[in-house]
Amino acid sequence: AKKPNLSKNDFLSCLAAGIPARQLYAKGSPSYGSVLTSTIRNLRYLSSKTCNPLYIVTPTDVKHIQVAVSCGRRHNVRIRVRSGGHDYEGLSYRSEIPEPFAIVDLVNMRNVTVDGKARTAWVESGAQIGELYYGISKASPTLAFPAGVCPTIGVGGHFSGGGFGMLLRKFGLASDNVLDVKVVDANGKVQDRKSMGEDYLWAVRGGGGESFGIVVSWKLRLLPVPATVTVIQMPKMVNEGAVDLLTKWQSLAPTFPEDLMIRVMAQAQKAVFEGLYLGTCDALLPLVTSRFPELGVNRSHCNEMSWVQSIAFIHLGKNATVKDILNRTSSIRAFGKYKSDYVTQPLSKATWDTIYKDWFSKPGSGIMIMDPYGATISKPGEADTPFPHRKGMLYNIQYITFWFGEGAPAEAPIKWIRDFYAFMEPYVTKNPRQAYVNYRDLDLGVNAVEAGANVSSYKAGKVWGEKYFKGNFERLARTKAKVDPTDFFRNEQSIPPLLA
Ligand code: FDA
Repeated sequence: AKKPNLSKNDFLSCLAAGIPARQLYAKGSPSYGSVLTSTIRNLRYLSSKTCNPLYIVTPTDVKHIQVAVSCGRRHNVRIRVRSGGHDYEGLSYRSEIPEPFAIVDLVNMRNVTVDGKARTAWVESGAQIGELYYGISKASPTLAFPAGVCPTIGVGGHFSGGGFGMLLRKFGLASDNVLDVKVVDANGKVQDRKSMGEDYLWAVRGGGGESFGIVVSWKLRLLPVPATVTVIQMPKMVNEGAVDLLTKWQSLAPTFPEDLMIRVMAQAQKAVFEGLYLGTCDALLPLVTSRFPELGVNRSHCNEMSWVQSIAFIHLGKNATVKDILNRTSSIRAFGKYKSDYVTQPLSKATWDTIYKDWFSKPGSGIMIMDPYGATISKPGEADTPFPHRKGMLYNIQYITFWFGEGAPAEAPIKWIRDFYAFMEPYVTKNPRQAYVNYRDLDLGVNAVEAGANVSSYKAGKVWGEKYFKGNFERLARTKAKVDPTDFFRNEQSIPPLLA
């Protein structure tokens, strides 16, 4: 076979034959920098040391995506895909290994089409979830979709890795409610539910971004919510009993009725208990005062509103309007490092005392966000979808630390999060220690490319892959071998092909 042409200019001519020139940005051209940085969330990867793409392609049509994939394969330029750019490790727009690559940035593919009668929607991957929530609420104030809390998250990456927020106990993951997809595969062909086969569809609904092609759009099952929901926010200091509350919360919150979700943000000397109840204050009060009287919820804590307003309220504050969830720059942009864990046995009060006393007072200390599971998210079997963290999970922990400035300012927070993660080992899931793929963490391991084969090694991938996917990693890798055997769609934590 003829050796592929490595010239990047040939790649560019190939792109230019099928995509308007104004949608192509080469490194060094005037708008390249602003397009690249537009959705970079983690400022660590704005650095000049970052390995950035040679080209950015901003398709407006599925045909442009097909052209990008075909040209990339023909001219040996790898493609990374970016939707909302929220990847914690920046894998949608930067590479750890210096290699030529281009990004397909879906920023201009953001349509949301809602069919209120059928209770379904099609959403393009470049939409942010705030645009989806807004579109649904325009079609019907009593329909919703269960996805993340932060309205700026991109649909493409988020749904690829699961996606959960305040409706997780009622309706499960975003990816659990995906009915169909349109994907451009590694051959540049468009696949959907009918054409792609069972394994491929299973893999794209939670198997992580990048590995299985470029998901162009998603068909969603919309779900009913009442016209009025209630939000409570209960900040408690350690000297107001935060530790006792947290200790009790761990085994209680996963057993609440599915209409109630109370998550916790723990930091410094405080724990904030934040709840969403799918109903009125009148209905919530007897429930929470009988099951969790110590929290001290009364009528004055109730904030009644529509579901879509609760999105703005929870993420952007009391004064935010529903339109604010369309804002594409509302989330904090900082330097950050993130990790995650799953808990199946409650931590003792003594352990929480130590966390507050020793860990939240250290230099660089950050936040723990804890989302209770149970109810709908815990119902599917471990292998029903790639996301295995189901039955028996009490809650998910997200560790976050952020800072401002490169170099020295990073040292204390990064040390803190790694040391704290090591401290937590005895208290969380083991063999494997489970982690959530959307809270991407390259400390868990990275791919190694097999000498000779030029594909990512299954053995190296297993190290991080079983933490995210447990036993499902093998099926993901077998599916990868079927749909992308040459490992064209590859990054530091993409699924390696398990070739026969
Ligand atoms: P981005 O574009 O960076 O993509 C992430 C990964 O998916 C990359 O590997 C990328 O190549 C791939 N990808 C992107 N588009 C694709 C496509 N169309 N087809 C195939 N692969 C694609 N999570 C959560 O579950 N609940 C939450 O509440 C939050 N909250 C939150 C807040 C903030 C401020 C941040 C920064 C992140 C979160 N997350 C989260 C994590 C979030 O779910 C995760 O980062 C998603 O992967 C982001 O998707 P984007 O499209 O924005 O990322």
